[in-house]
Amino acid sequence: MPEKIAVLPCDGAGKEVVPEAIKVLRAAGADFAFEEFDVNADAYLRTGHAITPEVWNDLQKADAILFGAVGDPRVNDAAYLAGVLLRLRFELDLYVNLRPAKLYDDRLSPIRREDRRQVDLLIVRENTEGIYVGLGGRFKKGTKDEVALQEDVNTHGGVTRIIEHAFAVAKREVVMVDKSNAMTHAGGLWQDRWKAVAAQHSNVKTRHLYVDAAAMQLVKDPTQFDVIVTGNLFGDILSDLTAELVGGMGVAPSANLNPATGRGLFEPVHGTAPDIAGQGIVNPTGAILSASMMVKHLGFPDMADAIEGAVESAIGARECTRDIGGNLSTSQAGDAVVKRLSD
Ligand code: IPM
Ligand code: MG
Repeated sequence: MPEKIAVLPCDGAGKEVVPEAIKVLRAAGADFAFEEFDVNADAYLRTGHAITPEVWNDLQKADAILFGAVGDPRVNDAAYLAGVLLRLRFELDLYVNLRPAKLYDDRLSPIRREDRRQVDLLIVRENTEGIYVGLGGRFKKGTKDEVALQEDVNTHGGVTRIIEHAFAVAKREVVMVDKSNAMTHAGGLWQDRWKAVAAQHSNVKTRHLYVDAAAMQLVKDPTQFDVIVTGNLFGDILSDLTAELVGGMGVAPSANLNPATGRGLFEPVHGTAPDIAGQGIVNPTGAILSASMMVKHLGFPDMADAIEGAVESAIGARECTRDIGGNLSTSQAGDAVVKRLSD
């Protein structure tokens, strides 16, 4: 039985990069059944559903979800984003968000010191809790007395399982990032769980950083990091920073996983890119590398390595889009990777 891959390009740049990722997967020999679903702003405006019940049903049955990006200027409605991406993360319980940042070519680094450029790190972001859960409200809305509350939800189980996952994937060190000096309740729970889990992994080096110091260290010398584990919001912010250390948002991939159920959703980090979408110039690298993470997750590590190697080779030869120093279109950049896999 071929793996069933649910394809959700969704909106904007997502529609342009996901076909490139599929093209590359096919060239790499992935004999999967790809099924595309009509989840996008047009469907939302037409049906009133971010994801219709029928599509939701089908998504549950897929072995993996290949995702593009969600958002549209015509839909000025947080419910749409919450009803697609956040719903998938929460309801499929994809509690691990892996965001690797690896420098494939020296010219893509913004760091001046040559010896501090060779980044190869992984952010392990908690993906189902924190301030993303949407608990809170606005009281006396629109008046001068308005009060807005946004709760930061952290659970014993949620914090424990994400820290455990960080140790499961670390090679040399796990750095836990929080803001426990100011956010003492949530930070206190993170600290307690961190110490308890770390004590069971004395073979791996450990370090703790407050998030402000972590941001500073990531710019100063990102080569010091292997695995960073952190909460939902800090992981969101730091992973944009780390993307920029290796070539920008166009190259950053991610995997949203539940290691226990095997479910996974794979998406480039860049979003819909409304400023450049639709012109055939968006960078497909983040989507292609997300597809590589998908096949690794599905049990094809050699295929994943081949795709990553082909991406690295294409970037090295400047056969890539403008944002990373080439002059190819989105689909030509996809072809440059395909060519290397077919040789
Ligand atoms: C990301 C994005 C999302 C997030 C947005 C679109 C809700 O920024 O995947 O990093 O904050 O998780
Ligand atoms: Mg983000």
